[in-house]
Amino acid sequence: MSASLGQDCTPRHVAIIMDGNGRWATQRGLPRSAGHRQGVEALRRTVRAASGMGIGVLTLYSFSTENWARPQAEVRFLLELLRRFIRTDVADLHKSNVRIMIIGDRDGLETSLRSMFEEAEALTRDNTALKLVIAFNYGSRQEITRAVQALAQKVAEGRIAPADITPAVIGNHLDTAGLPDPDLLIRTGGEQRVSNYLLWQCAYTEFVFLPEYWPEFDAASLARAIDIFRARDRRFGGLKAQTA
Ligand code: IPE
Ligand code: IPE
Ligand code: MG
Repeated sequence: MSASLGQDCTPRHVAIIMDGNGRWATQRGLPRSAGHRQGVEALRRTVRAASGMGIGVLTLYSFSTENWARPQAEVRFLLELLRRFIRTDVADLHKSNVRIMIIGDRDGLETSLRSMFEEAEALTRDNTALKLVIAFNYGSRQEITRAVQALAQKVAEGRIAPADITPAVIGNHLDTAGLPDPDLLIRTGGEQRVSNYLLWQCAYTEFVFLPEYWPEFDAASLARAIDIFRARDRRFGGLKAQTA
C-alpha cells in the first residue's frame, strides 16, 4: 500500500512553501508587490480547498527569518499584507471552524503584530476543523536553536536529565509541538530546496516541487500534488508493505 494514511490516503498535514510571487509579477510587467497581493488570493483558495478535502493541518511559509534581507519596502509591504489578512479574514476563518496558529520567532516583532497573532490564536483556539499554521519570521535552524536553549536551561536547573532528551522531547520543544509531522511538502515556483523550513519535522515527508508560481496555485494544483503523494511508496526505512 502506498502513502498509507486512512482509506483515501489524504495527507493529515500538508506544508507549503509559497514561492514565485515576484517572478509571477515580473513576467507580467508588474511590480513584485502585485505578485504578493495575488499570493494572498492563492492562500485563501488553498485554505478553502484544504478544508474541503479534510486535511487536518496546513502549514504555510509566509515569511522566513532570511526574508528580512529583502529591500525594506518589500519587507514593509509583506508585513502590511499579513496584518491586512488577519484583520479581514480571521472572522470568516473562525466561522469556518478553522484554528489559527502562528509559528516562528515573535521576539523583536512589533507589539501590535504580536497582539494580532495572540488574538487570532485565542479566538480560534477551540475550533476543530482545519488547523491553519502560518510560519512567520520562521527559520527552522532558529526554531531548533530555541528548543536547544530551552532544554539546556532545564538541564541547568536540574528539571531534566540529559539522558532523558529524546527525539520526542525535542519535538515537544519546537514551535510545532503537538502537530503531526508533515506528510507532504509542496513547493511552488520551481526551486528544489527547503529554504530553512521544517527541517526537523520533514524527516520523512514526501516532497512535491511544482513549476507553477504561487499566485497560480489553486484547488486543482493541490489535488494534483496530493495525487502525486498518493502514488508514492512511503517506507520509513522499512520495506514495501506488500513484501514486508
Ligand atoms: C514567495 O515569493 C513569497 C515570499 C517569500 C514572502 P517570492 O517573493 O520569493 O517570489 P520569487 O521567488 O522572487 O519569484
Ligand atoms: C522561501 O522562499 C520563504 C517563503 C516562501 C516565505 P524564498 O524565496 O525566500 O526562498 P529562497 O531565497 O529562494 O531560497
Ligand atoms: Mg522566492
